[in-house]
Amino acid sequence: MRAKTVNRVYLLLAREEISSLEEIHKMAREVDYSFIEKDQTFAVRAERSNKKFPSTSPEIAAAVGSAVVDSYMGSNGSRLRVDLRNPDVEIYVLVRKWEALLSINLVGRSLHCRYYRVRAHRAALPPSLGAIMIRASGWRGEPLLDPMCGCETIPIESALLIRNIAPGARRELAMNKLSMFRDFLDGVRFEVIGEENRRKAEIAGMDLSPKSLEMFRKNLRASGMEDTVRVFLGDALRLHRISIEGRARRDQSPFGIRMGVSKIDQFYRTLAESLSMSGVRKITLITPRKNLIVETLSRAGYPVDSVLQFMYGG
Ligand SMILES: C[S@@+](CC[C@H](N)C(=O)[O-])C[C@H]1O[C@@H](n2cnc3c(N)ncnc32)[C@H](O)[C@@H]1O
Repeated sequence: MRAKTVNRVYLLLAREEISSLEEIHKMAREVDYSFIEKDQTFAVRAERSNKKFPSTSPEIAAAVGSAVVDSYMGSNGSRLRVDLRNPDVEIYVLVRKWEALLSINLVGRSLHCRYYRVRAHRAALPPSLGAIMIRASGWRGEPLLDPMCGCETIPIESALLIRNIAPGARRELAMNKLSMFRDFLDGVRFEVIGEENRRKAEIAGMDLSPKSLEMFRKNLRASGMEDTVRVFLGDALRLHRISIEGRARRDQSPFGIRMGVSKIDQFYRTLAESLSMSGVRKITLITPRKNLIVETLSRAGYPVDSVLQFMYGG
């Protein structure tokens, strides 16, 4: 419920070295699925990262599905129903190298689907990635600005972090349907919500686009963080000309500078200079152009103290 930087949590049921579909079937057949109630439905999702494995993901899913039905029939004397679209229990099989992992998805939809995201910008970051950026920055509640905030992610995630808000306690989790968890989940939810606080920090989001800010305001309202996060219209490339009160000065045209990707080096340089002139002390950012950013930031007086590599959209 508290998790902010992970997308899914699985309960591992079995893990074995395998070389064929028959071995996966045998492994899945040996598991006792009595924790699934007789009137509940299930589905199997399979993924295969080892392309040399001789069977496809749908074949793996079908083999495990029949093993689940056989095992359940053997131990409970009834036939479990399959519902591929909206199952009560989702079984997940991963074939990784020459190993198979069989597990139950405890959360359902990815945890990056936050309760507050009612509107999404087309280039919005997944909130779990935004939360990773905040942690990687070592942020502890100092004034924080996302100068190109789009529809919200980083400012809202910062507010959730500082207030110890549990995003998973505000949405449905698949584990609610499992009797082994159901009895104590309400107690856990009560406990984690009880640990939230009303701490305040100076957190702001700014964007050049009024449309993005409109989405931001809607998400912010849904998040319940309106009293902590401020929103304003402005140009990150001219940040030094924006007043602290969060209103653009008269002489500042928020749409003054727009640059295409072909001028990305100039864009980064102007941005770094603008941040430097406004007294920004530390910058954390995501870029596909690492070398360019390291060089640009160093020149603007921001020596790079750490670089993390991650996978995102290929
Ligand atoms: C990739 S999206 C933002 C993603 C966002 N930070 C998040 O965490 O979801 C880029 C945003 O930058 C804004 N933008 C582009 N140039 C800008 C500038 N010079 N000043 C302020 N915002 C800008 C765009 O309007 C767009 O909303």
